[in-house]
Amino acid sequence: MSGGFFGAEAAPLPPGFLKRILVTGGAGFIASHVVVSLVEKYPNYMIINLDKLGYCASLKNLEKVSEKQNYKFVQGDICEPNFVKELFETEKIDIVLHFAAQTHVDLSFWHKLEFNYVNVYGTYVLVGAAYEANVEKFMYVSTDEVYGGSCDKEFDESSPKQPTNPYATSKAAAECFVQSYWERYQQNRKCCIHGSGLQRRNFLYASDVAEAFLTVMKKGQPGEIYNIGTDFEMSITQLAKELIHLIKNTRSEAETECWMDYVKDRPTNDLGYPMNSGKMHSLGWRPKVPWKEGIKKTIEWYQENFHNWKNADKALEPFPVAEESV
Ligand SMILES: NC(=O)c1ccc[n+]([C@@H]2O[C@H](COP(=O)([O-])OP(=O)(O)OC[C@H]3O[C@@H](n4cnc5c(N)ncnc54)[C@H](O)[C@@H]3O)[C@@H](O)[C@H]2O)c1
Repeated sequence: MSGGFFGAEAAPLPPGFLKRILVTGGAGFIASHVVVSLVEKYPNYMIINLDKLGYCASLKNLEKVSEKQNYKFVQGDICEPNFVKELFETEKIDIVLHFAAQTHVDLSFWHKLEFNYVNVYGTYVLVGAAYEANVEKFMYVSTDEVYGGSCDKEFDESSPKQPTNPYATSKAAAECFVQSYWERYQQNRKCCIHGSGLQRRNFLYASDVAEAFLTVMKKGQPGEIYNIGTDFEMSITQLAKELIHLIKNTRSEAETECWMDYVKDRPTNDLGYPMNSGKMHSLGWRPKVPWKEGIKKTIEWYQENFHNWKNADKALEPFPVAEESV
């Protein structure tokens, strides 16, 4: 069995229980044992068991915990986005252990669509809702079958996925989905701020900049210089705060500060570049996209496209600052 998880910084705890854990497929064979262990070993955690109660589910295994205060059963389908979204909202889930699946290999040959629907689409719905709810951890339970069959070699976590039946294929696809959330959305690195962060910069949305170049190409006079700029400016610290508010969905000053990392300043770091763009305006160009709309679109664009670049991770490393450079 293999699994994947993503993790975010812990959100403030709701009153009552220390953590709220969602176990999907908790009326199934393996997860029912996990639910019982969790309920018994962690009385200060609320364990929420979500199961559709399909043909291989049984609540019998859970009888010994069914009356416990830190246990709740919810009958429902991981493939229903509205229901799943609401569950995350009402139950304030911190951690997800995702076991629910169509699991019988034999059946998977005859019911490929259903296996893909539950195992891939259901996981997609669940991991998306978990991401939106900013959960602390998401653990996906996969299967050894994703590696394919072999008697003469050992598999480790980096072995290629070579599933040989529809069940294993759907589990492998779902695993990739979960992994992609971790890769794409949960880098969880802090905003790196050089020096005081009081330097001010002006920001234009990318399509406004592109439009400016086209305007100069069409209407600019040869030999002339044109400043492409905007009056809209903010400090780097303020920019970091706005990004954290939008991405981490928090307004708490203390939490925001936790996501800011002040590092040694660059050898030179100009305080600002206020610019008069009147000449560009006389060509008929003006920025059109307001800051709030542009920054939201920019965040979404980066979330979708971050991995378009090889070694994109390295771009997130702070630049080394050479002591002697001038
Ligand atoms: N049993 C094994 O040997 C084994 C080995 C490796 C991995 N796994 C993985 O472990 C997990 C649990 O396996 P198991 O054998 O206990 O499975 P199981 O079939 O006993 O239990 C699956 C549970 O998921 C529930 N479920 C199915 N579709 C659902 C949906 N749409 N919404 C909500 N709940 C739904 C079912 O009602 C059932 O209670 C699975 O993800 C499986 O792929 C199992």
